[in-house]
Amino acid sequence: MEQSYQKLITGNRIYAETKLFQDPDYFNKLSKGQKPNYLWIGCSDSRVPANEITSTKSGEIFVHRNIANLVVHTDSNMLSVLEYAVNVLKVEHIIVCGHYGCGGVHASMTNTFHGFVDNWLRHIKDVYHHNEVELKAIEDHEERANRLTEMNVISQVRNLAKTIIVQQAWDERELHLHGWVYGLHNGLVKDLAVIHNHQEDIDPIYQYNISKVTANI
Ligand code: CO
Repeated sequence: MEQSYQKLITGNRIYAETKLFQDPDYFNKLSKGQKPNYLWIGCSDSRVPANEITSTKSGEIFVHRNIANLVVHTDSNMLSVLEYAVNVLKVEHIIVCGHYGCGGVHASMTNTFHGFVDNWLRHIKDVYHHNEVELKAIEDHEERANRLTEMNVISQVRNLAKTIIVQQAWDERELHLHGWVYGLHNGLVKDLAVIHNHQEDIDPIYQYNISKVTANI
């Protein structure tokens, strides 16, 4: 056990030395601050590391990850990350990235009792229930799971659009929301083209009269 833990420390030494070899000023420059242009909301799955699969460097992507890349409107962790990314870092793009073969999605499609995590997976069950007709028409289990994975991402992008944080940003500037699915089998991202840029993209009941409120103050 100690050996496997030590591997990370050794790896870190190699990382730091390599970076300094390439650029002696590398950490000095990074430590001055961050100005990432992207917020990434992805799955905690160890096979979907945001920077690695997008060939981006430290400082380029602000990252939030949880099981099955969910955007739950009462999740204070996600909302805090979102607020900081949008209002302080002023990111221009938010990417929700799911992945095929997601354990969370697969688990939500069964009646198996998993324990506490079922409270979290309920959000995916709701997506399933909402799209039951289309999903049940897909006979192959794997294909059905793949479609639910895509539907889940689309649903989470919409959840972002429903937040006050995103709608307030839209009132002042451009902010683009994207839904992607990553393929564990080929390393490629599929853009689901669920881009939302305006408040009008979502159902009226979720639209806040942000400008009016601002004007009243
Ligand atoms: Co996953």
